[in-house]
Parts: sequence; C-alpha cells; structure tokens
Amino acid sequence: MKQNILITGGTGTLGKQIAQQLIGKKYAPVILTSRENAVVEEGAIAAFGNLALGTGLQEAAANADVIIHCASNPRNSAEVDIQGTEHLLASIPSDRSPHIIYISICGVDQSSYVYYQNKYATEKLIEKSRFPYTIIRITQFHDFILHRILVPGSNERESVIELPDNMSFQPIDIRDAAAYIVKCVEDKPERTCVTLGGPEIFSIRELANTYLTRAGKKYAIRDTAVQNDFYNIFRSGINLTPENRAGTITWAKFLQDTL
Ligand SMILES: NC(=O)c1ccc[n+]([C@@H]2O[C@H](COP(=O)([O-])OP(=O)(O)OC[C@H]3O[C@@H](n4cnc5c(N)ncnc54)[C@H](OP(=O)(O)O)[C@@H]3O)[C@@H](O)[C@H]2O)c1
Repeated sequence: MKQNILITGGTGTLGKQIAQQLIGKKYAPVILTSRENAVVEEGAIAAFGNLALGTGLQEAAANADVIIHCASNPRNSAEVDIQGTEHLLASIPSDRSPHIIYISICGVDQSSYVYYQNKYATEKLIEKSRFPYTIIRITQFHDFILHRILVPGSNERESVIELPDNMSFQPIDIRDAAAYIVKCVEDKPERTCVTLGGPEIFSIRELANTYLTRAGKKYAIRDTAVQNDFYNIFRSGINLTPENRAGTITWAKFLQDTL
C-alpha cells in the first residue's frame, strides 16, 4: 500500500520537484503551505498551516507515514526552522511514528552563519525526537547559483558581472536531489545523517563563464573581496563534499534546460 506523505515546503523550489516525482509514482502527497492562495501540483492535496505559528499542523500531519520536511526561511529561521520544527514534531499524534526526512545543508555543523546554526539546531531537535529520521545535508542547488549568486551580480548597463572572489561550489540539480529523497521514502529509516553533493566542483569564475557563454552574454567578470559570513561559507570549503558526488545533471545541462 502507498504511504501517506506530508511535504512541508512543498511549494518551494525543491519541494515542488519532490511533489512532482512522488505524483509520478502515484503518491498523493499532502503539501503544507502558509499561503491560503497557494497553488499546489495537480495530484497533490494542499493543507493550510503555518510552522512558525503552529497552526494547521495537526490536521496536516494526522495520517502521515513519512514527513519530508523542507520548509525553511533563511530570514526568519529561528521561528520557521527551529520553532516550526518543534511545532511540527509536537503535532504528530502519539500513536504514530512517521519517518522524518529533514532537508539540511552541507556544512551546517561547521559554520557561524546564523541560518546554518539554526539549521544545525533543527537537525538536533529531530535527532533527539522519538521518530525515525533521515537527515540529508545537500550542497547548493543549480537554481541557487543562478538566481542568488550570478544573476544578482550582473549589471546589464555596464556589461559586467560582479562576484565575491574565491568561492567554490559543488552544485546539485533539484531533479537529482528530489530523486534521492523520493528513494528515501521507500527505504527503511536508519536514524542517519547523509551528505549529498552534486557531480562537479567549480570555482565561481568557472560557473560564471559557462553561464555567460550559454546565455550569449559578453560580460566581463569583476571580482569583489566582500567579506561576510554568507560568502565566507563558500570560500571555506565546508560547502563541498568531494567524496559524495551524486546525480548526473551537470551545470551545463541545467543551463541548457533553463535558459
Ligand atoms: N537553496 C539551496 O541551494 C539549498 C541547498 C541545500 C539545502 N537546502 C534546503 O532545502 C530546503 C528547500 O529549499 P528551497 O530553496 O527549495 O526553499 P524555498 O524555495 O525558499 O521554499 C521555502 C518553502 O518553505 C515554506 N515555508 C516558509 N515559511 C513557512 C511557514 N511559516 N510555514 C509553512 N511553510 C513555510 C514555503 O511555503 P509557503 O510559502 O507556501 O508557505 C516554501 O514552500 C530548505 O530546507 C533549505 O535549507 C537549500
């Protein structure tokens, strides 16, 4: 019999992809959303609730055999990630013991960046809970490199792309990450933390050069030495996991499919 699956963050970048792959396997996942007007994938069931406020969670989690927990808010992680996870775990009926699959980030255990510390604290809540769990620490998504790092740095008027220097990434495609997570749904939970990285490691310049070529933009790349906890993560190497290369979708393939 198919398991009942709740996806928190099922309207987000990764969560939508997970929902699509589960629906393709004939699951009908319940998707938690804090927005009353949110549209969920066809074949999924929307559940209105708010992790930070602790509302709507009992109804959403009532029948879950598996909870894929990928909701997060980097700008409000103490409330959404830490307190929201406390609320979520407390909302599970006492006679049920769903497999909690928590989506974390590679390097959260080694960073002073507040968001990473809060993700790490969230991992600990799950580890200490009574539930079987799988924590999956993932490297940056291709979408994150494109939309959060490269595009914000580009200045069309000056034909230049400004990038913090000396950063490296091992990006993974959300299609590959979701496939791994969907496989976990069918595996027996082992109360483990695993790390999942993309297939290739590149400097930010290499990623930018491939992007500019594929986008047909003749921009110059300008390094900036901006220092902050966020960019320093990607200079330190804690975001890389060379021994855990997974997935087959490369940066070039992602750009070809996306641009
Ligand atoms: N981005 C990356 O490169 C990367 C890399 C590794 C790991 N991760 C992790 O992967 C997970 C998914 O990331 P993403 O980039 O796909 O996220 P995203 O697109 O920013 O989506 C965030 C999700 O969280 C939900 N959410 C936010 N606040 C909520 C609240 N108060 N109550 C209920 N739901 C709430 C949102 O749902 P509604 O707006 O519908 O409420 C949305 O679906 C996160 O845990 C992130 O830390 C991300």
